[in-house]
Amino acid sequence: MKVSFVTAGSGDVVAVMASDGGQLMPAGQALDAASGGRLAKAMKAVRFNGSAGSVVDVLAPEGLDFARALVIGVGKLDAADAMTVERWAGHAVRRTLTSGAEKLVLQPDGLPNVSKAESGAHAALGARLAAYRFDSYRTKLKPDQTPSLSAVEVMTDGTAAARARAEKDGAIVDGVFFARDLVSEPANILFPESFAERLRDLETLGVEVEVLDPTTMERLGMGALLGVAQGSARPARLVTMKWTGSTAKGGKPVALVGKGVTFDTGGISIKPAAGMDEMKGDMGGAAAVAGAMKALALRKAKANVVGVVALVENMPGANAQRPGDIVTTMSGQTIEVLNTDAEGRLILADAVWYAQDKFEPAAVIDLATLTGAVIVALGHEHAGLYANDEDLANAIVAAGLAEGEAVWRMPLGAGYDKLIDSPNADMKNISGKPVAGSIVGAQFIKRFVKDGVPWAHIDIAGTAWKPGPYEDPLSPNWATGYGVRLLNRLVASKFED
Ligand code: BES
Ligand code: MN
Ligand code: ZN
Repeated sequence: MKVSFVTAGSGDVVAVMASDGGQLMPAGQALDAASGGRLAKAMKAVRFNGSAGSVVDVLAPEGLDFARALVIGVGKLDAADAMTVERWAGHAVRRTLTSGAEKLVLQPDGLPNVSKAESGAHAALGARLAAYRFDSYRTKLKPDQTPSLSAVEVMTDGTAAARARAEKDGAIVDGVFFARDLVSEPANILFPESFAERLRDLETLGVEVEVLDPTTMERLGMGALLGVAQGSARPARLVTMKWTGSTAKGGKPVALVGKGVTFDTGGISIKPAAGMDEMKGDMGGAAAVAGAMKALALRKAKANVVGVVALVENMPGANAQRPGDIVTTMSGQTIEVLNTDAEGRLILADAVWYAQDKFEPAAVIDLATLTGAVIVALGHEHAGLYANDEDLANAIVAAGLAEGEAVWRMPLGAGYDKLIDSPNADMKNISGKPVAGSIVGAQFIKRFVKDGVPWAHIDIAGTAWKPGPYEDPLSPNWATGYGVRLLNRLVASKFED
């Protein structure tokens, strides 16, 4: 689907904005006048109130060259921001993508908090994100299930500025789509080795990619990561992706670490059958890191960033690790594995340590689909944020808010930490109590963060994918690509020259 900027557009469908109270915005008012008041008449007929995402679909409006006009609400104007415009455009694309229409014209207006040029650029970004599909394995799509929309024209005065902006945003789109594809792929296709191969492709963008195999990891002492991997016929991989874009010489990198469990059966502590297929997405943290690295490289970010992803498959089997096993991590600390389904923290223990040991980063941010408990706490609306550094935490909250990837800060503390003390090893991997499960997971990872290193953990178990029906117009699919936009903006706001 091609997106372009025009000063006057023509096509099959046109979309305009209306605000709270069902008020057409200026572009819509002009269209309404040209159609002899048809839009206003249709809006009145359905008691349209202009709330964000509400739509009046006007077919064959008289006096217009369009076969269809969509009046789409943006809600209260003083609350509307750039994300409102993206979602507005997303709704228009979702209504038209497989409708038979080939060309959609978006007429975004400026809003109190969004200039006309910005509004155009964000409409384009929203349109592109909303057009995402994962159709690689659907060989029998019927015509009405197949996208018909091939072009979107965004009407704006400042076409040159919008075009430049859209080119930059292309990096975000490609990064998000990369992450969505990785999360969507089934585990027979995407496993540690094939995942590592896909990350190798980032080399063409100037990212240095290094892939460690189990022999090397064994030599480094990564007993916790390898303990999880040992039940699977698929050997583990640890991949580092290095982007050196800062011109300030010798700048320490920021490290992004991702949980990449390509399938989580639970291991010997096996999960129930219902819904287990969703555990193909248990590499969502690694996908977010990979997508962010892609976006940063594509936009040639002036920052030094290293991505580290731990890739394993958690399987039961004759060689699988057992509850009660004690493993030794690269840090030297020992872990009693009381539940093989709490595997994410085990692989992160070694990956987070390795990232610090090898790169001496200015900060470490890990992303993981770590706990069901974070979904109990926050649902699918916010990811859980845990951090030992106020500045870093605040920057992450702000980045998430601006990019439509919300996080909610959760507490840490000694009282939670002591829940994972063990009489048999330095720690155990579960508390054994049905309390504060997502915080306990974070406390566990924190034990592998060196003193003085700013660190944040983002539990994305509820946001890496979401149950249908898929209401977010920007994410029309199961996999969201959550984290890519947040990390990209975080780097821009806090770690870029
Ligand atoms: N991958 C799961 C967490 C998860 C659950 C992600 C649901 C997405 C949706 C993780 O490895 C896990 O199994 N966690 C256990 C931890 C428990 C054994 C302490 C959980 O949440 O039940
Ligand atoms: Mn698990
Ligand atoms: Zn898991």
